[in-house]
Amino acid sequence: MQKITIAIDGYSSCGKSTLAKAIAQKINYNYIDTGAMYRAVTVYALRNNLINAKHKINEVELVAQLNRIDVAFHFNANTKSSETLLNGENIEKEIRTMLVNENVSKVSSIKEVREKMVALQRKMGKNKEVVLDGRDIGTNVFPDAELKLFMTADYDVRAQRRLDELSSKGQYFTHEEVKINLMQRDYDDTHRKENPLIKAKDAIVIDNTDLSREEQLEFVLKLITDMQLLVEKV
Ligand code: DC
Repeated sequence: MQKITIAIDGYSSCGKSTLAKAIAQKINYNYIDTGAMYRAVTVYALRNNLINAKHKINEVELVAQLNRIDVAFHFNANTKSSETLLNGENIEKEIRTMLVNENVSKVSSIKEVREKMVALQRKMGKNKEVVLDGRDIGTNVFPDAELKLFMTADYDVRAQRRLDELSSKGQYFTHEEVKINLMQRDYDDTHRKENPLIKAKDAIVIDNTDLSREEQLEFVLKLITDMQLLVEKV
């Protein structure tokens, strides 16, 4: 089987990571959650008082401290999932809080933060056999990825999924609060100067509003099989 790179981009809470993990597991590829990396930098900034209560970031100081921020992943054999490390500390739970949700888009719009994370992502994915999900994977991190997917879904469906995820972790919000946060993040992600979220010209759109996890996985696995058959014919 030809080794490929699979890039999954799209809006917040469209199930990108669920799909990416399922593909990686099915075809035995590595999975890189690039959003988790920006979330880890956000945790660092929050812990070091570089973001105030009004979400204002001390950008100069954060950029100056970037060399103190080490982001990595560790595979947990018990849960069979990858966990995010900030300077060696497992912060997987902390990166999924609403406080991080509210600040991560702004942190990820800082040019120097992006440069550092993109360089790391390219290094992690250089040997192919990898699935990455994020906002700029197919357009910027790996523009030559063999398979590019762009995911979207209805706002109410996405808000409900995120609400369920938060409440399963004991964090309770209203549907409206979560929906507003999603809309704000989509706006920030699509309007920032540095590598905004846009669909790569050659990306295949998946709207999973009415698709089950199994259906979308089946759809993508078929795309991969067809691609491999195409390559073998050439
Ligand atoms: O996928 P996520 O919700 O965990 O991503 C968190 C934030 O990180 C998202 O609001 C935008 C940013 N992000 C980005 O700018 N580029 C990426 N490749 C991945 C995420």
